[in-house]
Amino acid sequence: MQKLEVLGANKLKGQINISGSKNASLPILAATLLSKKKVYLKNLPRVKDIETMLMLLESLGSKIKKIKGKTVIDNSNQKKTFASYNLVKTMRGSILVLGPLLAKFKKAKVSSPGGCSIGVRPIDIHLKALSKLGVKYKIDQGYVIATAPKGLIGNSIRFSKISVGATENLIIAACFAKGITTLSNCAIEPEIEDLVNFLIKMGCNIRWISKRSLKIVGIDEVKETNYSVMFDRIEAGTYLIAAAVTEGNLTIKKIIPKIIKTEIDMLKKVGAKIVIKKNEINIIGKKKINSININTAPFPGVATDIQAQMMVLLCKANKRSIITENIFENRFMHVAELNRMGANILINGKKAIVNGNTIFAPAEVMATDLRASVSLILAALTAKGKSVINRIYHLDRGYESIEKKLKKVGAKIRRVN
Ligand code: EPZ
Repeated sequence: MQKLEVLGANKLKGQINISGSKNASLPILAATLLSKKKVYLKNLPRVKDIETMLMLLESLGSKIKKIKGKTVIDNSNQKKTFASYNLVKTMRGSILVLGPLLAKFKKAKVSSPGGCSIGVRPIDIHLKALSKLGVKYKIDQGYVIATAPKGLIGNSIRFSKISVGATENLIIAACFAKGITTLSNCAIEPEIEDLVNFLIKMGCNIRWISKRSLKIVGIDEVKETNYSVMFDRIEAGTYLIAAAVTEGNLTIKKIIPKIIKTEIDMLKKVGAKIVIKKNEINIIGKKKINSININTAPFPGVATDIQAQMMVLLCKANKRSIITENIFENRFMHVAELNRMGANILINGKKAIVNGNTIFAPAEVMATDLRASVSLILAALTAKGKSVINRIYHLDRGYESIEKKLKKVGAKIRRVN
C-alpha cells in the first residue's frame, strides 16, 4: 500500500493551478445519462473518484473516449440500468445515476452506497423525493430497485433536510418528468449551480425561483453539449490553508474568488494577508495565527469538507478554538492522528476543542478519509523532520497530483510503495 513521506518544516512559496471540481464532475457525469447525443466535458480532475464514475458509466453502456483534453461521452446506445455493488461501494457518488436512469428508462437497479468512515450516509431523502415523482422502489439485498411505470410525473417537492446529493438526483430526474416540478429547501452549493448550468446548456428547462427553490419543466430529449466543469473550491481552500499554516506565500490560480468568499473571510480573520485578483488569490501566512470558532453548515456556510484542514491551522493559533461539525456524525477521525503529532484537541460530541500553540512533531500516521488525509499532510509540512502518511488511497480519490503540486512550491514530499 502506498504512503507519502513529508520532510518538514518548510514555507510554501509559488503558484498552484487548481483542478476541476470532483463534486461538480460527479453529478454532471451522471447527468450525461439523460443524453442520446455526445457530451464533451473539459476540466474533469484526474482523480480516482472520476475514474470510478467513468467505469460505472461504461458498465451501463456508455462509450467514453479522451480526445485532446476533452472527455467524450457517447450514450447513444447506452441501455443498461444496473449499477453494481462492486463499483458503487468504492464511491458513494454513484447513487447519482439513480435519477437519470429512472428519467430515461423509467427503471433502475442501483446498489445502495452504504456508509463510509465519516458517517452512515443514508439515502432516505433521495428516495422519498423520487417517490413524489411517481417512483416505486424497494430495497432488496442492498440494492435500490426502482420503477416509474407511468414515467416520472412532475410535482412540488420540499426536501426535509438540505442534501447535496438528493438535490442533484432530483434536479436531474425532474428534467424528464412530465409537467412542472418545483424543488424547495435545495442545497445551493456551487457544484449544484454548475450542474444546473450544464443541464441548461443541454437544453433542459430549469430556473431558480428563490434562493433555495428551483422550477423545472420536463422535456423529452437533450442536445449534443460541450461543457467545462468549474474549479475545485475545496482543493483551492486546502492550498490557501497550506500557505497560512506554513507561513508561506502562495498564488492560487484558475479559480473564481467570490465562490470561496466564506473561506477567504475566515482566513483573513485568522490573520493571513490575502490579495484577490480576477481568477487568482495571493495569500501570505503570518506567524501570529488568531483563534476563531467554526460551525460547518450547508453553503454558503463553512464547508464541512474544509473542517479538517482548518483544524490543523487552528492548532497553531494563539488561543483555543471550537470547531462544531454539524453535517456528518463522525468527521473527527483526523483528531486522533493530529494528537499523535502533538496537537491538543478534545472531542465533545459535535464539538472539537482545539487548544492552540501546537508545535507539530513528525510521526507515522494513517489517513481515514479524503479530507482527513490532506489535513495530516498540512500538519506534516509544519513538523520538523520526517512524517509518513499511510493509506493515501483516500487522498487519491479527490486531490489531483497533490505531491507534484506541493513539490512545485517547495514541499519535500514523495510517494513510496
Ligand atoms: C456531498 O455529499 C459531497 N460529496 C460531500 O463531499 C460533502 O461533504 C457533502 O455533500 C456536504 O457538503 C459529493 O458531492 C460527491 P449530503 P452528500 O446529502 O451529497 C444526511 C468530499 O469530501 N443525509 O448533503 O452525500 C447525510 O448523512 C465529500 O468530497 C440524509 O440523512 O451529502 C449528512 O449528514 C465528503 N439522508 C447530511 O444529510 C439522505 O438521503 C448532508 O449530506 C442524504 C443525506
